[in-house]
Amino acid sequence: MSTQYGYFDDDARTYVITRPDTPTPWFNYIHHDQYTGLISHTGGGTSFRRDARHMRLLRYRFNSLPADRPGRYLYVRDDRDGHYWSATWAPVCTPTDQIDFRCHVGLGYQTVVVRHRNIESTVVYFVPDRGDCEIWWMQIRNIGRVTRRISTYSYAEFCMWSPLRDWSNMDAPPNTVRIERTSDNVILHSSYTDLGTSLETMNFIRLWGYFAASRRPCGYEINREDFIGRSRSEANPIVVETARNQRQKQPVGNPLGSFTHRFTLRASQTVDLVHILGICDKRTQHVGPVRRYRSLTNVAHALASLKSRWEKRLACCQAKTPDALFDALFNTFNPYQATMNFHLSRSLGPCYTGLGRGVGYRDTSQDCLAVISAMSDRVKEKLVLLMQNQLPDGTAQHGFFPLTGEGSGAGAFFDDHLWFILTLNELIRETGDSDFLLENVTFDGGGSGSVFEHIRRALDAAWRLRGQHGLCLSGKADWNDSLNPLPGSESPFTSMLFCRALADAVELAELIGQTRLARTWRRRYDDMRKRINRVAWDGKWYRRHLLPNGQLVGSRRRREGKIFLEPQVWSVLSGVATSKRALAAMDSVNKHLARPYGIKLQHPPFSHYDPDVGSAGIFRAGLKENGAVFNHTNPWAVIAECMLGRGDRAYDYLCRINPCYKNVDADAYVSEPYVYCQHVAAEPQPHQGRGRNSWLTGTASWSYVALSHYILGVRPDFDGLIIDPCIPSTWRNFKLTRQFRGATYVIGVTNPYRLCRGVKELTVDGTRIRGCRAPAFADGREHRVEVTLAGP
Ligand code: GLC
Repeated sequence: MSTQYGYFDDDARTYVITRPDTPTPWFNYIHHDQYTGLISHTGGGTSFRRDARHMRLLRYRFNSLPADRPGRYLYVRDDRDGHYWSATWAPVCTPTDQIDFRCHVGLGYQTVVVRHRNIESTVVYFVPDRGDCEIWWMQIRNIGRVTRRISTYSYAEFCMWSPLRDWSNMDAPPNTVRIERTSDNVILHSSYTDLGTSLETMNFIRLWGYFAASRRPCGYEINREDFIGRSRSEANPIVVETARNQRQKQPVGNPLGSFTHRFTLRASQTVDLVHILGICDKRTQHVGPVRRYRSLTNVAHALASLKSRWEKRLACCQAKTPDALFDALFNTFNPYQATMNFHLSRSLGPCYTGLGRGVGYRDTSQDCLAVISAMSDRVKEKLVLLMQNQLPDGTAQHGFFPLTGEGSGAGAFFDDHLWFILTLNELIRETGDSDFLLENVTFDGGGSGSVFEHIRRALDAAWRLRGQHGLCLSGKADWNDSLNPLPGSESPFTSMLFCRALADAVELAELIGQTRLARTWRRRYDDMRKRINRVAWDGKWYRRHLLPNGQLVGSRRRREGKIFLEPQVWSVLSGVATSKRALAAMDSVNKHLARPYGIKLQHPPFSHYDPDVGSAGIFRAGLKENGAVFNHTNPWAVIAECMLGRGDRAYDYLCRINPCYKNVDADAYVSEPYVYCQHVAAEPQPHQGRGRNSWLTGTASWSYVALSHYILGVRPDFDGLIIDPCIPSTWRNFKLTRQFRGATYVIGVTNPYRLCRGVKELTVDGTRIRGCRAPAFADGREHRVEVTLAGP
């Protein structure tokens, strides 16, 4: 469906942006392993290796004017009359009626095609699988009839490695700049940076940034000042305007990589020009990648292998349903976003500058959920990293930076240490590898224990950290960062999460014969469940916090903050609610919180900051945690409705937030229509429906779980694959291919009676099996599963 700004090209797995003036810059990532670049549709963005706080290669000015500067720029100049433009539209920004613009948002790559004055440029940006570097592969084609003289100028503005020093210290860093051109035409930026975490702990290291081109340049620049010239900007650099490189080649203050190339292009002739931008630890380490990617064959090969890696990654689960926009989300963009979240946590994104946040304990535990089916080994590594950041008392670091080992918020957030238990349960369902539970992992602060011991300590911590009613304490903030109730407050939500973690842990304990602990945990589950139902039920929904002074947050007795979404959905996800209460709670959600553009986090929003309750009230009503649609929580509601068998409502909730559906309404939504954003403004905001903070959000992971495990209903179990869809009653059928423990399940579901749910039996390779579990064949073969939804 093509709209004002673009369309989904399902076969190519891209979103094609058809004009440069989107409501905000629309971003994508280029990424492999340690190297990541954030890139907007007009070339703006930044890149880093490993740690966005200390190893930033490209400079980027977040939230500046003009917006989205600088970037990976390539200027094209018509040497006949000196007219020039940008191969990514920005920063020159030729009037839009004079150019043709296409940006293909691909999986790990971005292709920008611009046509102007009978010259077509195509630039593909991507990160190859070898060397910590990125490639800018440009093709310039003369699509006219006469021979043309064209020159190109590249622009890579180096960051002084630490963006914080780069932005906050105008005195020292400019005087530390080392930048030179080697005899082999490589520009090397090699300033020092400080990995130390305070004045007392200086720890200077030197990094090497390199920039090179595949063709011999006829000019170059190493200073931003020289390239841009006086009283100018990226939009009209003196070097491009005059087609003359500067004589001066000593470092000045702002390190830049720029090469000049000149071409004579006959009619229909195409030339290729590759730029290579990378980072390494030693001066000579750039030689290998530069040599490799100066070869066009190697570049083409690296791009092809990137695309095939993604195809392989996505092949793990693919569906064909009656809803093409569901398919675009489920098959391509949701797993893509979830994978990037898994790699990046909340470090660097359109609204995260890469300075404040490293790996978030609860965020990453949840991010893992969506990628287990495709990348179980990587999830295992990530879980080990998380457990290494668990404290001996069972609680955890709230966030940590793997490069420097710094942590923050140790033991202050009482939900943090519970999430990874859900992830472990899911991992072992997927792989069947319960031996992992016996592997030894260190604690942060001394000692080590088996993975199972890490679970035990986390559950003991939650049991220990209870309040006067016996519910889990809220801590500094439970999942909701903006509810910080008085010390001693209790959180029904965390108590429900605890119940779910207990239930998941019981299953794991039984797998490895820990029956005594399984019994204890079952008892704790029952005890907690009873208490929650006794003290947290408000009549029509569950309460959000019980304060030690008797105040209730999320209660009908309040004027503001009467009802919150989290405890309603988790009462279902944890099995804490009786079926009557579960239905009542979810109906209250529908009645009070559901809006056309998603389900609000709470209602009515707070009008001011109340220190007893927390910081939610600092936000304007209808934004962020103060009553916006906080997308992360919406897939929980989808899951809860599926668990209750209400497939129509579940699907309706999904459609309200599915970014692909927003394509038709891009001016109101403003965020990218191919990935989820963190929150969508709700009333009383005049711009309700507007999305903000795209890409790095737990929504991606939970959405994928909701779609795959609950709507399509295919989820791993310890000894097989459960197939129990809960779909909209309008769907007559769907197909799904799922890899599971080495075998491939080709699943066909038909729904002749227009039901939402109702699997009574499966036909697996022609044999009928009662129930909804297909065996774990683990035989490397393909198996056909037929399912018909049938009434009671
Ligand atoms: C942000 C945080 C996450 C938190 C959520 C709700 O997404 O990254 O940790 O749970 O906000 O406050």
